[in-house]
Amino acid sequence: MLRTTLVRASESERLRRVVSRRGLARRTVDRFIAGERLEDGVAAARELAGRGRLVTLDHVGEHVHTQDGARAAAKTYLEVIDSIGRERLPAGVSVKPSQLGLKIAAGLCEELLDDIAGAAGRVGCHVTLDMEDRFVTEATVRLVERMQARGHDHVGCAVQAYLYRSHADVRRLSEVGASLRLCKGAYAEPAHVAHQSTADVDGSFLRCATWLLAHGTYPRMATHDDRLVGAIVEAAARLGRRREDFEFQMLYGIRPDMQEALVRDGYRLRIYVPFGAQWYAYFMRRLAERPANLLFLLRALRGRSPAPHATADHSTAAG
Ligand code: FDA
Repeated sequence: MLRTTLVRASESERLRRVVSRRGLARRTVDRFIAGERLEDGVAAARELAGRGRLVTLDHVGEHVHTQDGARAAAKTYLEVIDSIGRERLPAGVSVKPSQLGLKIAAGLCEELLDDIAGAAGRVGCHVTLDMEDRFVTEATVRLVERMQARGHDHVGCAVQAYLYRSHADVRRLSEVGASLRLCKGAYAEPAHVAHQSTADVDGSFLRCATWLLAHGTYPRMATHDDRLVGAIVEAAARLGRRREDFEFQMLYGIRPDMQEALVRDGYRLRIYVPFGAQWYAYFMRRLAERPANLLFLLRALRGRSPAPHATADHSTAAG
């Protein structure tokens, strides 16, 4: 219920303006977002790379309403890729299909993605399509299939364990060779398409993870859940998947303690680094994932300093 309300609030322009204006609330945002400019994202990537992390850069934004908006988003991604190449950063990019116009002009979206994939291929960086709500799941899976068919074997997407269809998608996309990011899923989806209980989502995650570790192309396990991380470590060892043949992924500013422990133990870890002015919807999804974050924000909006234990990440923000 709370999660659904927060995910819906991610579309509220009025609330976005309130959060942006309040200084303390803004600091809550900064725990999750590297900054508004490309240089902020690149600086965070550089710093994380210096500490042995891989990175994926996300220029936050979704649901563009015009073709010019889609072209502008693609142009920013080309600049991001150019920076990654120039600075030789161990980084890829994460792209939302709706940001490239999937919902308003599917053909243009594919064309722009083809340009991005071409540029990324030239500098050797991976492109992951973020998985958005259920209205674009099939279209996103098809985009990956088409990119693979055009020889862009470095293009994959996220798969959301909460969807009933995900195990089939994992097999379908692995068949074309795509490297996939497995996550629980961050949107508020109804019972006719998605598991509703934590136990069912975790069960689906583990089934998909085990299948990917046994058969998939370089699986990308995106979770901060201790229990799932432990189960993945155990399954990888049991199935003979070497540490360099898969990676963990975590979000900027979340569980730096766990991030540090994985890197120390020799696992590959990629940090998802969001930057850009359109941070609001991304931020609200992070609030929806953890009620303590909401408490933190509400106190900040009332102008009171939050209690230290109510921070987003248990200690200091990563990056
Ligand atoms: P869970 O929510 O159970 O959290 C486990 C623990 O992690 C919590 O107890 C808490 O300590 C910490 N934690 C988790 N979220 C937190 C938060 N917001 N603030 C503070 N602490 C938090 N989703 C999607 O639908 N499409 C996508 O493309 C992606 N892409 C993506 C990339 C990467 C790299 C990650 C890590 C995640 C995504 N997600 C996503 C989000 C994902 O679906 C999911 O909503 C979150 O990762 C939270 O789920 P966990 O697996 O971390 O477990």
